[in-house]
Amino acid sequence: MQTDLTRRDLIGDLDFSKEEVETVLDVAFDLKRKRALGELHPILRDKTLAMLFFFSSTRTRGSFEAGMAQLGGHAAFIESKTTQIAHGDTPHEIGEIFGRYYDGIAIRHCDWGLGNRYINDVAKFSRSPVLNMQCEIYHPFQILADLMTIIEKKGRDLRRKKMVVSWAYAASYQKPMSVPQSLILQMPRFGLDVVLAHPPEFKLMPDIMDQAREQARKFHTGFEVVDDMEAAFKDADIIYAKSWGAMVHTADPDEGAKIIKKYEHWITDERKMALAKDDAIYMHPLPADRNIEVTDGVIDSAQSVVFDEAENRLHAQKAVMALTMR
Ligand code: CP
Repeated sequence: MQTDLTRRDLIGDLDFSKEEVETVLDVAFDLKRKRALGELHPILRDKTLAMLFFFSSTRTRGSFEAGMAQLGGHAAFIESKTTQIAHGDTPHEIGEIFGRYYDGIAIRHCDWGLGNRYINDVAKFSRSPVLNMQCEIYHPFQILADLMTIIEKKGRDLRRKKMVVSWAYAASYQKPMSVPQSLILQMPRFGLDVVLAHPPEFKLMPDIMDQAREQARKFHTGFEVVDDMEAAFKDADIIYAKSWGAMVHTADPDEGAKIIKKYEHWITDERKMALAKDDAIYMHPLPADRNIEVTDGVIDSAQSVVFDEAENRLHAQKAVMALTMR
């Protein structure tokens, strides 16, 4: 079957089929090779992308903006607070109007219960593809970059490899649960046995858990949930440990913050990493709370692939933009 992703939105991880994700990966590796060789690739010459941010960013903004320039186009950085959205511009109007100005609309909106609905509402009225730069449910571009990185480090055949997706302690703020949710949706399709580890109060959204179990069944991979970080790390090939908030357990942010404090020992340190396989890799989407969520010794070690993950954001996003915004 020929893959045609022209004008397709990417909002949730399962919006693209496995075959379509494979095409994205093929294009991403090709664009990475072209950039390494200095081969120009102006696939989106004169095309424009709106990048609408309701929440701060380092990597997402930088990689989408650089990616559009490398593809021969332009990305406009738009912070919601500098627009008329607070004065009445609705998602309908943003979809209609930006869809006419731009060849793609990328949005980051992580507010609990609001972000995903906002992005879908814009998409309903946009004639251009809408790309989810992270909402409270999904972070699909992070996970495409993570998948690329795992393939680079562990090879294309990922069957029987154990990936731990673990909660980690961080008191700075209640972080979105979009990264672990997107990981458990996408990784089973590529053969990884996923072990999800978190304290009891840090459950993910029930609907996402059901979909992840369904993916694991469909692709004949393991999917296990445990409440013990150390037990999870044992003999793992891939450790992906990051913090997220207790939003499913409680809508009260003060109670959520109090609960987080009970689990200071959920830090990725050298002792826990030693429980994983000798050649295990450590992953984190960044930013990390250093020496709280993960020790310097782990994140700066030879096992850490965090900078490769950050780099692959660029290549994976360029691939999706090139395929959807033509
Ligand atoms: N990983 C990630 O999305 O980073 P930013 O929040 O800096 O964009």
